[in-house]
Amino acid sequence: MQGVTLVDHPLVQHKLSLMRDKSTSTASFRQLLREIALLLTYEVTRDLKLTTTRIETPLAAMDAPILEGKKPVFASILRAGNGLLDGMLDLVPSARVAHVGIYRDPETLEPHEYYFKAPEDLGDRLVIVVDPMLATANSASAAIEKLRERGAHDIRFVCLLAAPEGIERFQKAQPGVPIYTAAIDEYLNDHGYIVPGLGDAGDRLYGTK
Ligand code: URA
Repeated sequence: MQGVTLVDHPLVQHKLSLMRDKSTSTASFRQLLREIALLLTYEVTRDLKLTTTRIETPLAAMDAPILEGKKPVFASILRAGNGLLDGMLDLVPSARVAHVGIYRDPETLEPHEYYFKAPEDLGDRLVIVVDPMLATANSASAAIEKLRERGAHDIRFVCLLAAPEGIERFQKAQPGVPIYTAAIDEYLNDHGYIVPGLGDAGDRLYGTK
């Protein structure tokens, strides 16, 4: 599918199956999401530009590759985004972090923003927006709009699971923003849940149900 990278590495698929299982504990769910986040981050950062720096190994001098330019920003859509964010920061500890607080009205499924904090120089950085579930795409799209208002233009979106309806709506609202996901599920139900999915990612991550 154009604009969508399916990260279907066997380890990702195995860990995702464990996450979907309703008998998986909160602690395991959180740990598995953190582990999958590492593998998703590996893919979404695959084409980051490199430069070189002169270093000396114990044996010789060399021009060693290092990341070029400013560090990326990971923009977490609260609260479930934080479950992915933790693993992403394990891999890229020097990344900057933006938090976008959005909840969706359970009746209308419309997004409501309640918090926003991001680095000032978003326009100079790659911004990777993270939320485990791309369902209606309302929250993802609202978060990206807000980040654009603050100057972001080089934007990618990372999720764990996507509904086909969510991908379609996202691509209409945010053309040109690439999506990275571990799976594309069957459909979105009338309550805005991804089927078969894994339930409410925030509740399962934080044990709130
Ligand atoms: N958000 C979730 O946590 N789960 C879904 O299935 C859809 C949106």
